[in-house]
Amino acid sequence: MRSQRRSSALLAGIAAASLMLAACGGDDQSGGDQSGGVDTNGASEVEVFTWWTSGGEKAGLDGLVEVFGEMYPGIEFINGAVAGGAGSAAKDLLQSRLQAGDPPDTFQAHAGMELADYIAAGQVEDISALYDEFGLNDAFPQDLIDLLTVDGKIYSVPANIHRSNVVWASPSALEAAGLDPEATYDSLDEWFVAMDAVEDAGMTALSVATTWTQVHLLETVLMSSLGADAYNGLWDGSTDWSGSDVTAALEDFERLIGYTNTDRDGLDWPDAAQMVIDGNAAFNVMGDWAAGEFDAQDLVAGEDYIYFPVPGTDGMFGFLADSFTLPVGAPHREAAEAWLDAVGSLKGQTEFNIAKGSIPARTDANPDDFNDYQRSAIDDFGSDTIVPSLAHGAAAPIAVSNAISDAVSKYTAGGSDLTTFQDELAAAVG
Ligand code: GAL
Repeated sequence: MRSQRRSSALLAGIAAASLMLAACGGDDQSGGDQSGGVDTNGASEVEVFTWWTSGGEKAGLDGLVEVFGEMYPGIEFINGAVAGGAGSAAKDLLQSRLQAGDPPDTFQAHAGMELADYIAAGQVEDISALYDEFGLNDAFPQDLIDLLTVDGKIYSVPANIHRSNVVWASPSALEAAGLDPEATYDSLDEWFVAMDAVEDAGMTALSVATTWTQVHLLETVLMSSLGADAYNGLWDGSTDWSGSDVTAALEDFERLIGYTNTDRDGLDWPDAAQMVIDGNAAFNVMGDWAAGEFDAQDLVAGEDYIYFPVPGTDGMFGFLADSFTLPVGAPHREAAEAWLDAVGSLKGQTEFNIAKGSIPARTDANPDDFNDYQRSAIDDFGSDTIVPSLAHGAAAPIAVSNAISDAVSKYTAGGSDLTTFQDELAAAVG
């Protein structure tokens, strides 16, 4: 990530595709750069359901809304966003609305197992025909299309690719603790030594927030401690959740939680990131929507903050993607199709991701449009081993991740010991 490698196959593919795009003068059918092609049949509004309400997340959504407005000026964007990082409040509300037959026109869902839940419940429509209409079949990496496809059908349009296993750090806090901001840590054990120094200097070593951010931290510890193959095995049954390797990972998690702020349960992710921005905490583990937040505050990478993979996860890309759906019974179906056109368009993906901190799902985006962090993520996505995020719907169905969240919350609040915690995690995954 810090190594500034630029020669991955993906990047080469992107560069080649970008050149082709430039040579063709832009392909409006797939890029959708001018105006949209959906026959909207006079549709006047579209309700878009997300949980992007502030900071870099809102800025990303705003960028997409602007492109949508250019493509479909006659359709009013109705913001159905519900605050709460990672959909912590939105997802339950969405489920009640879907069950009550009151769906929004479109909602964000995570590629992978979370989306598979909506598909299995018959709550979202097959939109394979729109992929043909918008020219999307060749726009996304095949691995991502495979993840979105169930029984040969595709049910959503991905807006981005996010990375989960990133440490965001405060150079000023590290210096105040006598640490070199340029230092790298090859393992969690090396990282613990630095955290001890930060604590000795009277600061919070690792900021964290409410339960879902603790689950997020846990997934990165599992990646680090187990390695990519055994981590992937947690989700296909080949790694035993009751085994000693998982016990060792949970011991690391126990130690990490010991370094965190005790007011964590009352905070959301922007608060924990803010502790790093303000120099009150040295480290925070968060997905790269944090990069969007830093950008929204005009902070400069390398000066105001630094980033590196969670120690022990270099070479792994903790994968998640936000993808927009067409719910069964959407009140403004044509308008929802128009929204999906904007989401899949080159311009929509560019404007959205520049502000969001993520990278475009489309492979023909121009890396030069993105900042240093994002270019490193584009590079890493092309060369790293992809491992699915637990906290963001890629690895496990919603019921499993809810049960894991309950176990984590109980454990970090002091309601269970490590043995019980491990038993509860094993039972959650089943
Ligand atoms: C994730 C989502 C990201 C970001 C994050 C924090 O679940 O995929 O786009 O919004 O939550 O809210």
